[in-house]
Amino acid sequence: MSFLANRMNSIDASGIRKVFALAATMKDPINLSIGQPDYDVDTIVKDTMIQAVRDGKNTYTQTWGIQSLRDAVTQYYDQKFGVTIKNPMICSGVSGALFLALMATVEPGDEVLFADPYFVMYPHLTALLGGVPIPINTYPHFKLTPEALEAAITPKSKILIINTPSNPTGVTLNRVELQALADVAKKHKLLVLTDEIYEALSYDEAPATMVGMYDNVLLLSGLSKSAAMTGWRIGFASGPDEIIQAMNTLQQYTFVCAPAPAQEAAVVALQQDMTQKIDAYREKRDIVYNGLKDHMEVAKPGGAFYIFPKAPGGDGTKFVERAIANNVLIIPGAVFSKTKSHFRISFAATNDTLKKGINTLLTLTD
Ligand SMILES: Cc1ncc(COP(=O)(O)O)c(C=O)c1O
Repeated sequence: MSFLANRMNSIDASGIRKVFALAATMKDPINLSIGQPDYDVDTIVKDTMIQAVRDGKNTYTQTWGIQSLRDAVTQYYDQKFGVTIKNPMICSGVSGALFLALMATVEPGDEVLFADPYFVMYPHLTALLGGVPIPINTYPHFKLTPEALEAAITPKSKILIINTPSNPTGVTLNRVELQALADVAKKHKLLVLTDEIYEALSYDEAPATMVGMYDNVLLLSGLSKSAAMTGWRIGFASGPDEIIQAMNTLQQYTFVCAPAPAQEAAVVALQQDMTQKIDAYREKRDIVYNGLKDHMEVAKPGGAFYIFPKAPGGDGTKFVERAIANNVLIIPGAVFSKTKSHFRISFAATNDTLKKGINTLLTLTD
């Protein structure tokens, strides 16, 4: 007998579970699988959190978050991108924001489109809500083009999810590329969710945002990655009135609010200069990309801390098994894609670990 709801059958986590099972057998692995920076939260941000706890800021906040953080998010987008965001609300990470956004908008049968390779939550949450995930193949350059988007649209298409810089490829879309996608979304009256969680980690050009390119854009971003606050659960959403209102109603009956002291600290985190972190991560990107580019087919990441090479031999899952047998932990592309030929490296590791990992992977190329 099972008490589980049928909807649980729409989620399949077996791919990643297999990797975790294999990883559990590794002793002291060269770990290139991690989805969070190798730096810690800044001291000033930690101190703000501690002070907030001491000052008794430990209670529920307003459902939509504390006003000072909503203002700080507005100011951040204004200063960095020159756009005025609408109705900012604070959520429990981008995961929380994404869940509320899809809960508020996806009807059974609605198609949700996104680039393949994709962040794992997009298809799973869509399917959980009865929606139909439509991954759009973007190999080998990993940029969603307006042509590929047009070709995937049907009368049932409702939502387009954009993620730049991307997890798992690190590939970024510039202003012109985003505007072209926004134009297609507008023509077909799609709601766009733009997941910009990695924008602060951009290495080659200033990041671009979809905000301001089209009215029906829902911004999702947060501090888990840039400020290394993954465990503090702070994200934010902003966009059309009707959708943010619905997300607030849902938040009231689910997450209630994001952690109160972490909201206080996030105000300070948003004001920190990212230059040193960006420089350090550009160097990591270069170590990995330059180390691999003459030996594997690989797109250069412009942001985030992932790279998504094609496995020598063309079977990402087999290559990952060999890497794990040689003590390097990486993730098979099948976890993030309908195509199984690639694998993901996270370069959120020390330079020394990266060099060791790349050297080992290169011994497996023949
Ligand atoms: C593209 C993308 N979006 C959202 C998230 C979720 O982040 P958060 O910690 O804010 O829930 C992640 C985390 O890996 C991610 O890679």
